[in-house]
Amino acid sequence: MSEFKRTLVTAALPYANGPKHIGHIAGAYLPADIYVRFLRNIGKEVIFVCGSDEHGTAIPIQAKKEGITSQQMIDKYHALLKSNFEQLGIAFDVYHRTSEKLHHETAQAMFLEMYEKGLFTEEVSEQYYDEENQTFLADRYIKGTCPNCSYDNAFGDQCEKCGNSLNPTDLINPVSTISGNKPILKATKHWYLPLQNQEEWLKEWLVEGHKHDWKTNVYGQSKSWIDGGLSPRAMTRDLDWGIKVPLKDAEGKVLYVWFDAPIGYISATKALFKELGEGKTEFAYPQNTTLKNVKADDWATWWQDDTTRLLHFIGKDNIVFHCIIFPAMLHSTGQYIVPDNVPANEFLNLEGDKMSTSRKWSVEMEDYFNAFPGKEDVLRYVLTAIAPETKDADFSWKDFQTRNNSELVSILGNFINRVAVLTHKFYEGKVPANVAPTEKETDLIAEIKRCQTAIAENIEHFKFREALFEMMNIARAGNKYLADNEPWKTVKTDQARTDTVMFHGLQIAAHLAWWMEPFIPYTAQKLYGLLNFEKVNYQFDAFVQLQSGHEISQPSLLFQNIEDDIIQLQLDNLKQKSEKKAIDNIAPAANSEASLEPLKPQITFDDFSKMDLRVGTVLEAEKVEKADKLLKLKVDLGFEQRTIVSGIALDFTPESMIGKQITILANLAPRKIKGIESNGMILMGKNLDGSLKLIAPNELADNGATVA
Ligand code: MF3
Ligand code: ZN
Repeated sequence: MSEFKRTLVTAALPYANGPKHIGHIAGAYLPADIYVRFLRNIGKEVIFVCGSDEHGTAIPIQAKKEGITSQQMIDKYHALLKSNFEQLGIAFDVYHRTSEKLHHETAQAMFLEMYEKGLFTEEVSEQYYDEENQTFLADRYIKGTCPNCSYDNAFGDQCEKCGNSLNPTDLINPVSTISGNKPILKATKHWYLPLQNQEEWLKEWLVEGHKHDWKTNVYGQSKSWIDGGLSPRAMTRDLDWGIKVPLKDAEGKVLYVWFDAPIGYISATKALFKELGEGKTEFAYPQNTTLKNVKADDWATWWQDDTTRLLHFIGKDNIVFHCIIFPAMLHSTGQYIVPDNVPANEFLNLEGDKMSTSRKWSVEMEDYFNAFPGKEDVLRYVLTAIAPETKDADFSWKDFQTRNNSELVSILGNFINRVAVLTHKFYEGKVPANVAPTEKETDLIAEIKRCQTAIAENIEHFKFREALFEMMNIARAGNKYLADNEPWKTVKTDQARTDTVMFHGLQIAAHLAWWMEPFIPYTAQKLYGLLNFEKVNYQFDAFVQLQSGHEISQPSLLFQNIEDDIIQLQLDNLKQKSEKKAIDNIAPAANSEASLEPLKPQITFDDFSKMDLRVGTVLEAEKVEKADKLLKLKVDLGFEQRTIVSGIALDFTPESMIGKQITILANLAPRKIKGIESNGMILMGKNLDGSLKLIAPNELADNGATVA
């Protein structure tokens, strides 16, 4: 790493066409975040750029399915993705979007530059065209019979039955999915990047140059592409959604999404420096940035100066684009750097089966946050512990529970809690003196140092699983040290020994706060608070972090056990969602009625008018201790404020409720729930899959307004 002055980290721009699941997170965003946080902590110059990928045929197709415009769809999912990443603590310097003007200009400029340098070839070929709609058909818009397995609904790029990849012209009886008509073949011109011209350079740079430092999966895949011989690849498409090809004779043509999207990394970097320079925060996160005194044109240093180290974090389906096509684009312009490494991950399965949002066999970010409010770090921990770094890995809810209960709670949480509780019990919360350290302490310090070196080395080599394990080894060493030296016993007989042991226990806790931060930043924050210590005061090369006499705060638990019923609920939900999806695909209408609840017996108007329904605004919301499903809310009803306990915590985080208008049944007799008096009930809609939705006024209403 040493010859580089700065590190530019990118994470694959996610398509803004749907929610992202935990497999996406484990694949790219979380490892990138750990890497970046670590570099920031050791004072390296680093930026972390990402954004939404808002072009490509997938966007208009999905929008059509959802019955909204493409623009509405990217707006919706860009906002969702951005907020999901924030909640998980993915600390980008900038999260941009490819629909931004700045990006359109950047991508077009790059295309023009390559065009003017004569780097493209123009080719005319015959492609399917829908005459009724007067449009060329992207591969996905054509269906027909698979020539391999005779499946009737094969797509122009792939048969989903036999899995074979296809060309649209392979299909028997092709049909346009837009009009239902038979498409005709029509000549169309496109601009191709002749990748074969770059074989020599690619061999030298990648095949020879990165044989030893790239992951074997990434290197192997790239090498076999190159060995197989490269061919021209079209960089433009006939489509009405995307970035216009900036040439005169290119009516109706846009840049290929895999041409424009990676340039999004450059546009995002430009946006970052522009906003930092101007003090804006539309896409930039100045609170995450460790750079000082930046100017708008600094972006160029990060992309064009060969003292910059460029790293792309991606999932394995993106390897060819990041290891061959984008580097070929960057290199051929003659002024950009190419990636130094592309640490791509393999896939994460779920309960032994391939994860898929469309088959509903997935855990989406939003689902997780709703089911486990405040437990973002548990997910970060588990996804890192099982990361698919060298081969596909499996996420299972049982394993999730075990890692929480037997690792986070029993090893890490337990160590910190013992230290904090004993410090208060023996010393009123003050760090004792290091009276008489022995060989045991020397050994302990050596083991902590060993773990720290191992964490740093593993992170540097993108081995985050191993790094996390070594971080936990610090806590393991701490537990063992306490168990071997039993300060709770020696306190009665040997004050000097007790002081020494507790002094060392406290130092380990402080080290843990700093070293856990890249992995579990929210917990690190809590631990800093508990120790009354700050990240900026951490001394990288010293063992002593907390001086004798320093006072720590009151102990509080870092983690809670996750009970069996909560885990069972996740398994049930998963099964239900995927079964429902499977049935939906066969007989949508019949099924949805079958799962609706039966109607209740008739009531009179008098019965109805006894209910006093009112609009209110949630002022405060918090979790009820030891009750995973309950939220305690303070609601403003205009004429008074009330406490209501509601069983909605699995569907709503406390933060998401604050400020929301809701409808409540205001004259329900008070009830005690978990010792708290609840005055009223919140109206909720319950979906067929059991998920809850707020029943709220469509527009802002007065608090206390009646509902009838
Ligand atoms: N949107 C692509 C995907 O989700 C990734 C694009 S990465 C970029 O697979 F480099 F093109 F930005
Ligand atoms: Zn087939």
